Amino acid sequence: MANKFYITTPIYYVNASPHIGHSYTNIAADALARYNRNILGKENVWFLTGTDEHGQKIKKAADEAKLSPIEFVNQVVTQFRDLWKKLEISNDDFIRTTQDRHIKCVQKALQILYDQGDIYEGKYEGWYCTPCETFWPLSQITDKPEGNGLASSGQSHNLCPDCKRQLEKIVETNFFFKLSKYQNWLIKYIQDTDQNPERIHYIQPASRRNEVLSFLENNKLEDLCISRPLERLNWGIPLPFSPKHVTYVWFDALINYISAVGQFDAQNIYRSDWWDKDVKVVHLVGKDILRHHAIYWPIMLEALRVRQPDTIFAHGWWMINEDKMSKSRGNVVNPVEMVDKYGIDVYRYFLLRDVPFGLDGNFSEEAIIKRFNGDLANDLGNLIYRTLTMIEKYYAGIIPELDVYETSYDSRGEKIKEKLVDLKKEVSVPLSWGNDFSLALEKIWEIIGITNKYIEETKPWNLVKEAKEEQLKTFICLLVTSIRKIGIEIAPFMPKTAESIFLQLGASEIRKGAPLFPRIETKKK
Ligand code: MSP
Repeated sequence: MANKFYITTPIYYVNASPHIGHSYTNIAADALARYNRNILGKENVWFLTGTDEHGQKIKKAADEAKLSPIEFVNQVVTQFRDLWKKLEISNDDFIRTTQDRHIKCVQKALQILYDQGDIYEGKYEGWYCTPCETFWPLSQITDKPEGNGLASSGQSHNLCPDCKRQLEKIVETNFFFKLSKYQNWLIKYIQDTDQNPERIHYIQPASRRNEVLSFLENNKLEDLCISRPLERLNWGIPLPFSPKHVTYVWFDALINYISAVGQFDAQNIYRSDWWDKDVKVVHLVGKDILRHHAIYWPIMLEALRVRQPDTIFAHGWWMINEDKMSKSRGNVVNPVEMVDKYGIDVYRYFLLRDVPFGLDGNFSEEAIIKRFNGDLANDLGNLIYRTLTMIEKYYAGIIPELDVYETSYDSRGEKIKEKLVDLKKEVSVPLSWGNDFSLALEKIWEIIGITNKYIEETKPWNLVKEAKEEQLKTFICLLVTSIRKIGIEIAPFMPKTAESIFLQLGASEIRKGAPLFPRIETKKK
């Protein structure tokens, strides 16, 4: 069993402001980091996020903003940092690919691979769109004329998949990384992890693992072009062995996971406290960037003789009315607006609860309000509020004390006690085996549900009327124990709510505040 935990998010392109998709991965990673800190101790968990600042996209956005690339990225990066602060993201480090530590590590990795013959010089042929400044390999040009792509004049009519303008054929010298050499190794590696009881699945969820494996089994990997000539792109990390080229942005970006926590030594051995055998390394990524993480990255590591991560988990996408979110569609949801309107923990809870982590989900404010009024106001908020009200009313605000595990209850009470004892495990299994936040939360809400039901069925006001003091006390103590336990378990997901629970019910005297989640009234149609 690993006793340390290293969790990463993708590093985000800074060509545009952060949106809910970005916040999704960071909230999920944050919940896992907080959860593991509680179990392993703060010093044994490392949580990394950051920004991807090189490449064509960024250069173009900087040009449009009439700023130098570095001025531009310095501006946008603060939006990401500010958002993470606002969302209570507890990352231990923030890597930027323009930092020296990163550039040094990328160049060293390139040099090692070049020296051992895994990077070689070759000719790159493709179709270039000058207005879009994009190189399209033939395989991606879908909008070709009928036939073989040659018009009767004998001229090519290949069109840019983006702007539909005529592409120009370009042949240039570039550098290639020998992906193909490692294809069989990767197939075997993925298959072998299934027999390794410690590792669970290397690629998760299982459907994604099958997708990657079947891709590898049915296609021959082409070597990856890892450079761009300076005359076409000058915003990137120079290749140490060819100053006329910069590094392809994905090769540069993937290295962040190791450049942030270590370096190669003089003997070309990678050294890091967070990439050792005793660390469980987990990468969370969106499904659209699975291939980069599950094919390029493992092969890069293998070629560099660096150990593999334990898990690469690809989550689904948030859609808007079943449609993709994009600037051009004008339907991009700003996380800052959502948080200002509904609160941090409501936003965090909604994203983690509403959709199982590997699947796509539909984002809507109606769906948030439904979760808010149901799970949060009615279930959790109500449980806390009515318990505090009873303590206020029957005990003048002093929390009665009793070890509920040493006390006998009726069958309903005993059932709650049993569930409370199991809760930690019930939450831990879905989290550690499949990053299943939704199921973990469901388990916590089961307790909330049965505790609320216990109040309704016990009818404490009757106990008061009949002066059954002992029964009232044992009853209230079970509610308090249950809420405190709920507070502990929800803390990784909803840190502010947990804090508030402990503030109100943590000491011997209650500190009743306003209801945590006052219902949102919606207009009746
Ligand atoms: N820079 C690369 C990642 C390099 S990691 C070594 C990149 N950046 S990105 O900013 O375009 O996207 C980052 C992440 O946001 C991806 O994981 C992507 O899946 C995620 N999302 C973008 N839109 C999304 C949704 N609508 N919903 C959920 N996640 C989405 O790719």
